[in-house]
Amino acid sequence: MNELSNEAWSGYLSSFHRMHPGITEDVLSGSRSRQGLTPYTWITAPIPLGTRVLDLACGSGPGLRSRPGEPWIGLDHSTSELARARRSGTVNVLEGDATALPFEDGSFDGVICSMALMLFQPLERALAEVRRVLVRDGLFVATVPGRRPLRVRDVARYSHLISRLGRRYLSYPNTKALSHAPTLLGGHGFELIEDVRSRFDFPISSPEAAATFVRSLYLPDVTEATLVRGEQLAARWVGTSIGIPLRRITLVRR
Ligand SMILES: C[S@@+](CC[C@H](N)C(=O)[O-])C[C@H]1O[C@@H](n2cnc3c(N)ncnc32)[C@H](O)[C@@H]1O
Repeated sequence: MNELSNEAWSGYLSSFHRMHPGITEDVLSGSRSRQGLTPYTWITAPIPLGTRVLDLACGSGPGLRSRPGEPWIGLDHSTSELARARRSGTVNVLEGDATALPFEDGSFDGVICSMALMLFQPLERALAEVRRVLVRDGLFVATVPGRRPLRVRDVARYSHLISRLGRRYLSYPNTKALSHAPTLLGGHGFELIEDVRSRFDFPISSPEAAATFVRSLYLPDVTEATLVRGEQLAARWVGTSIGIPLRRITLVRR
């Protein structure tokens, strides 16, 4: 059930982002690490000020808005996500695909990619494109869903929720490839300089926040009725919070 074809994933992701533009931002911008960072201030932290940066798969543009006034550009292939970015005042965005970037070689000093590297198909082509548009020694910083760190209560809740949703685990097109990140990325002309993890606390302040959290998960093959059952379970957690485990990979283009 978790093994979906590339075509099925691609169709699912297009309709997911058409139906829920900005839902990733809605969850992540309300989440905080122990140090008080959002996932967006965390991903941008390694990038020096005043450098040319591409926010790859920028979605509704929260990464770009975390560094206002910087010479940054966002790219995404979802028209609906970009429309929400523009409604939020982010205009330096364009539509395009990670596997065929519309930029010249060496156009950027840095590339960030928040919560999308696990989706690109084929991943190898997207990595070759990132390398091509970066200058030599340019930085590539990506965040992807992690499995840790989590608190014991988080683990129990995820396990209950995922089984309520009729799944055994959450997976993405590149889950397996990214479990060997240093080998994979080293083979694509990058040097891994950091691979760290952090837990972000998302407050479940209302039944609506609980529903947004459940709906923000990529759950192909899960019916509407099952999703509603997942929302009902998460609604029991109102007044508490849940941890979102993220992994940040920082690479240098060689
Ligand atoms: C989980 S969202 C993350 C959005 C944003 N970076 C954030 O963190 O809020 C994943 C994004 O990847 C985009 N995406 C997926 N595959 C893509 C591709 N091949 N080229 C460009 N964008 C892609 C989707 O449209 C979506 O906006």
